[in-house]
Amino acid sequence: MSDPNEIAQEYLQIVAIVREYVEEQMQLGFTELLEPEEKPPFSDFDMAQLRHEAMGCERCELHQGRHTVVFGTGNENAELVFVGEAPGADEDQQGEPFVGRAGQLLTKIIEAMKLTRDDVYIANVIKCRPPGNRNPKPIEIESCEPFLLRQIELIKPKVICALGGFAVQTLLRTDQRISMLRGRFHDYHGTKIMPTYHPAYLLRNPHAKRDVWEDMKKIMVELGIDETV
Ligand code: URA
Repeated sequence: MSDPNEIAQEYLQIVAIVREYVEEQMQLGFTELLEPEEKPPFSDFDMAQLRHEAMGCERCELHQGRHTVVFGTGNENAELVFVGEAPGADEDQQGEPFVGRAGQLLTKIIEAMKLTRDDVYIANVIKCRPPGNRNPKPIEIESCEPFLLRQIELIKPKVICALGGFAVQTLLRTDQRISMLRGRFHDYHGTKIMPTYHPAYLLRNPHAKRDVWEDMKKIMVELGIDETV
């Protein structure tokens, strides 16, 4: 028979581990413990079902302040997917990603790559506007990212272009700075991902446009687009 003191010790250790886990979940904003899912969320949804699910989503508090869900737009068979952070005020009003000033610059970048917005797919990590454009919270990222994961799984692009530090850090689970990450391809679940500066950053720092163009040229080579034609 085991020593009752040892059993009590072991029991207390288990309680401490469970308590630590629950406290961590509460800090992340969870109010209930979820059963681990065997399959990733939405793994058998098609794009229409996924959009429908997103449009009615109330998984995090962002649904309370949104005007509309900004699901994503463009070619669902695109070879290139751009991923930004979260909708701003213009996007929240119009229901389309990257339609404000930063979006107009993104359109110019896409056109400089000899593509149109209809050739590519554009989405954000977060589908609802954070109030006052604050940074998204971990619970919001955790709730929303499965939509993007399934979008990418369905589109099967050759290349993902992550716009800005938030998008790439979320997708690659890293806290490295965008300046360290940009300029080369990384692996995202088997798909090449090129991080580059966010167009909003370019509006404030036009000198960085040169770096972004270098990154876009690498994407063009990957997609077989001839820059000189
Ligand atoms: N910034 C983003 O990251 N996404 C948008 O849709 C608009 C601005």
